[in-house]
Amino acid sequence: MTAIVGVPRETFPGERRVALTPRACETLIKAKLGIIVEHSAGLAAGFTDEEYAKRGVRLGTRAEVFAESGIIVQARSVGANPDHGRADVPLFRPGQVVIGFGDPLTSLREDLTLAQAGVSFFAMELVPRITRAQAMDALSSMASIAGYEAVLLAASALPKMFPMMMTAAGTITPAKVLVLGAGVAGLQAIATARRLGAVVSAYDLRSAVKEQIESLGAKFVVLDLDASAGEGQGGYAKAMDEAFYNRQRELLTEVLKEQDVVITTAAVPGRKAPILVTAQMAEAMAPGSVIVDIAAERGGNCELTRAGETIVHHGVTIIGPTNLPSSKAFHASQMYATNIVNLLKLLVKDGAVALNLEDEIIRESLVTHEGKVVQPRIVPLVEAPGAKPGEESAKS
Ligand code: NAI
Repeated sequence: MTAIVGVPRETFPGERRVALTPRACETLIKAKLGIIVEHSAGLAAGFTDEEYAKRGVRLGTRAEVFAESGIIVQARSVGANPDHGRADVPLFRPGQVVIGFGDPLTSLREDLTLAQAGVSFFAMELVPRITRAQAMDALSSMASIAGYEAVLLAASALPKMFPMMMTAAGTITPAKVLVLGAGVAGLQAIATARRLGAVVSAYDLRSAVKEQIESLGAKFVVLDLDASAGEGQGGYAKAMDEAFYNRQRELLTEVLKEQDVVITTAAVPGRKAPILVTAQMAEAMAPGSVIVDIAAERGGNCELTRAGETIVHHGVTIIGPTNLPSSKAFHASQMYATNIVNLLKLLVKDGAVALNLEDEIIRESLVTHEGKVVQPRIVPLVEAPGAKPGEESAKS
């Protein structure tokens, strides 16, 4: 029987993305899937109901979307939308496949709820960073938007311009931008700041990124610090001990003083973000300087960051954005939809759901199945004695 893919409207406050664009729906229809999209689901991202209808998509109410679909695709499933997502739980049907972001390593209570509802939940955060899964890697596609957007936020908050300008009214020197953490978001931040004409430097504890930083025209900051233990698998970092972070902060203090803008993106999967910038370090920066901390949602790389807020401390502006991809919802939806379509190609054969539980991508990203939590990293977390699901501080 042909599987039907349902796209409900996102309900997280301020979320403007939609999980499938009209074009992505057309691709799936050609692959023999049926699609039902909730009325107005794409509007905030710039996609009208008429565009969906033109591509052969049926539009319906939220209740119809949940009742008629074998597969539900979302940007934010319950774990990443706990307050409003709860309302959808009674709508889930046992055996339904649900795909979306869900903070699965920390939203343990929601993982258990999904298991109880009997759905097979695929968390987009857990798609492994392996070559075969690149086209499904939504963490990376969303992180590049975040890196780009972080620089635009910094550029508009800074009382200086980014590029060098030679004018009749004198020469303007270029802004200095430092990027801490040169993963996907950091590299995009470097590229964006360079395009705007800033002088950019970057630091990461993985020395493997030195070449990538330099190929974007930025300077790799070398600290007198042995970070070799920080290289994890798949281009991710490992957590270091507090003595390491203390020394790192000490060495970064001098580097920070010289900067107009600092963009922090340092992340360790499944952990709270490491503190790279203390209040004292921020205070040593010139008034008017800007810190954009895109790790805000996971506790922040700057001690002063408040998630979702902009504060001014000793004249330094500290911005803690939490949903940057949503502010570029059109392209974010386009990229996310491509990630979803590619994952669906792996889950569906000849128009019907066929899960190969031996497949590494499926095994890693499938959180709940047949009434149980099954993801190998999450099983011990929900079974740990004394575990208080849902109360951890770090996002996955
Ligand atoms: P990533 O894992 O590709 O990159 C993080 C980088 O930080 C790695 O290269 C790692 O080596 C580096 N790092 C870790 N600890 C460090 C330390 N002590 N010093 C220097 N570098 C260190 O992660 P990605 O995909 O680039 O995401 C970066 C951050 O952006 C994450 O915290 C993610 O949650 C966040 N994010 C935020 C969004 C928002 O709207 N605010 C949207 C998307 C991502």
